[in-house]
Amino acid sequence: MVNHGIPTGVLDNLLRSTREFHEQPKEMRMEFYTRDCTRKVKYYSTGDLYQTKTAQWRDTLSCDFDDTSKIDLGSFPEICRNEIGDYLNRLHGLKNLLAELLSEALGLSSNHLASLECFDIQRLLCHYYPPCPEPDLTIGIMKHSDPYILTILLQDNIGGLQILHKNQWVDVTPVQGSLLVNAGDLLQLITNDHFKSVEHRVVATRAGPRISAACFIYPRNKNQSKPYGPVKELLSDKNPQKYRETSFLDYIHYFGSKGLDGVKALPHFQLISANE
Ligand code: OGA
Ligand code: NI
Repeated sequence: MVNHGIPTGVLDNLLRSTREFHEQPKEMRMEFYTRDCTRKVKYYSTGDLYQTKTAQWRDTLSCDFDDTSKIDLGSFPEICRNEIGDYLNRLHGLKNLLAELLSEALGLSSNHLASLECFDIQRLLCHYYPPCPEPDLTIGIMKHSDPYILTILLQDNIGGLQILHKNQWVDVTPVQGSLLVNAGDLLQLITNDHFKSVEHRVVATRAGPRISAACFIYPRNKNQSKPYGPVKELLSDKNPQKYRETSFLDYIHYFGSKGLDGVKALPHFQLISANE
């Protein structure tokens, strides 16, 4: 997305302050270091290490929000808290606009997707990919699709992000001031395959560090046990229901139990009849 209305300064500040967080002395970062997934603000290296058993060339600061109108900025690292706050404030309107545009693209009324209560800004991952002396031996993020509704991604100008298109890895060349939007698995599920979640990865590079910020849109806590299935208004004899209903928590539980093994989680939720 270009012309998205978020000033370049807000984007640059988020990238700069993310870099500053990750380049602080170890003692400052240790305060946030944890693999306890119940913590709302956490900092960790080589994410997904325990499920996948593959070390990834990346450090991550992860912030969870639930209700973005009631964010406690004080819980975030001081060095980047205002920058995160400014970005989230601006992202709110853009996220609502995306929900409207996607609804219209599906032929639904413009408030339809928002009315499902699954378009909430829930998590921001501020990634730091250190320069890598032997990039062929490792990976920044392994092949995966995001299990959520949407991802809004900001990347700096280093490059390394790739998407899988017709079985080929294609570079997503950085465009200054732009934001990327990825469909996630849950969007694919509720749109009955109209919007397909994109498989992607980040390769390690000698250049860098590379900084990116991935913002995930999915249902907030109070709606995470609610069943979501393909939107009824989209279904017909020609477009029969392909997936069973599942809650966000059940989906994420299955996704997490698999680890980033390069195999999509979504087919597990297909209706048997859709496979015939
Ligand atoms: C992610 C992701 C890509 C990037 O966080 O899920 O795919 O460019 N990030 O950092
Ligand atoms: Ni991703």
